[in-house]
Amino acid sequence: MDVFRKKDVNEILKYSSPLKRTLRTWDLTFLGIGAIIGTGIFVLTGRGALTAGPALSLSFLIAAICCGFAGLCYAEFASMAPVSGSAYTYSYIAFGEIIAFIIGWDLILEYALGAATVSVGWSGYFVNLLQNLGIHIPTVLTAAAGTTPGVTTFFNLPAFLIVLLITWIISIGITQTKRVNDSMVIVKLAVIILFIVCTIWFIKPHNWVPFSPYGLYSFHGGSAAGIIPAASIVFFSFIGFDSVSSSAEETINPSKTLPRGILGSLLISTVLYIIMTLIMTGVVKYTVFARFLDAPILAVLHSTGQTWLSIIVSVGAILGMTTVILVQLYGQSRITYSMSRDGLFPRFFGSVNPKYQTPFKGTWFFGIVTAIAGGLINLNILSELVNIGTLTAFVLVSAGILWMRHSHPELHRGFRAPGVPVTPIIAILFCLVLIAGLNWETWVRFIVWFAIGMVIYFAYAKRHSKLNPSNSDGSASAKKGAD
Ligand code: ALA
Repeated sequence: MDVFRKKDVNEILKYSSPLKRTLRTWDLTFLGIGAIIGTGIFVLTGRGALTAGPALSLSFLIAAICCGFAGLCYAEFASMAPVSGSAYTYSYIAFGEIIAFIIGWDLILEYALGAATVSVGWSGYFVNLLQNLGIHIPTVLTAAAGTTPGVTTFFNLPAFLIVLLITWIISIGITQTKRVNDSMVIVKLAVIILFIVCTIWFIKPHNWVPFSPYGLYSFHGGSAAGIIPAASIVFFSFIGFDSVSSSAEETINPSKTLPRGILGSLLISTVLYIIMTLIMTGVVKYTVFARFLDAPILAVLHSTGQTWLSIIVSVGAILGMTTVILVQLYGQSRITYSMSRDGLFPRFFGSVNPKYQTPFKGTWFFGIVTAIAGGLINLNILSELVNIGTLTAFVLVSAGILWMRHSHPELHRGFRAPGVPVTPIIAILFCLVLIAGLNWETWVRFIVWFAIGMVIYFAYAKRHSKLNPSNSDGSASAKKGAD
């Protein structure tokens, strides 16, 4: 069936990238940390702690294991087809066009709504910082409507503006340089280490008792609680490591360095997250976070009396989240650009501005949509939708490894995920457990998103695809492969 027409991996490998190869293992690890550490740890830990209690650290561990197994599959794909496009390109090779479209559509959810989610987290710390400096933004403009019970809010202006600002930066071609990313990551890590060193002494072990008040999965006050539902929430904290695989064309010896970069950045983030959550739930009773959902780290600093540190941590969190928004908006613009080059999206999204050499119109289109989403939608709705989209992409990438080992055993793989078929099967099972931990409203929203995608595929993409033989340049484009 033509909806399953595939790109040929050998053709893709013939495509030689014009980009310069400069990135090594440590650069990729830093790139990964730049994309990973953000709103998840700085904001979602509050809701996570209310959902799992002190056992939140186990929720982080479960989410990390899920990402670790999926990360091995991403790494094998990246070493087999070290071209950009990430999961979208991989699934075009493994499963064919319709699945690639679904993944691309999923990645738009991951990147665009991911950036919107992080912008809301950014706004929480920004508003707090301004308050500490004596500057007050009208409360109605600090959050989406209905976000805080008992407080009238209307629109999240800071979230809206930060997305527009970063969209402008990307659209005129200033992408994050390695040096800027490295300095931001160092600031982010320094702030986290400072937080750990300054607060670890204030742990009161009795705050860890009971360690897991809601068990693995239970219902509490009408909503799901426990370690699994919290893992489904904080899974967001790990999103971003897959962006490392997008740098395949700029990496020296990608088959070795990509897997190391992916797994290294995951490992470092996991260790930091677990230490931080143990400290947070050890210093204050987990129920305290109900009053600090916007900036839970500040609950800990207030309780230890280290208000001076809260300004430093806020600045670090704001800078850290800024890089995450940048990476996600950049990834978003490049995915729609790739899909447009393949004919699956209108040319509008792929047209390159001659002055700035960027997909200017597409960047602004999704930048504005993302900014409005950040201004109007609640953080929890956004983050859960991003999680379900990303988990679905992980399931497909892991299944893709199973399929490629079976269908293309001859292909050179610089990195082979250990323990196949067990590794991808475990990844898929963990993803399904985490999807099950999300609430049903999220599933419904995701199904609606998926349905809209299918309408676009059958109404537009299938006909305009460069792999459609009736398009005259079909074969040529297929040979060029994913860009
Ligand atoms: N993992 C990223 C964050 O937590 C998306 O902000």
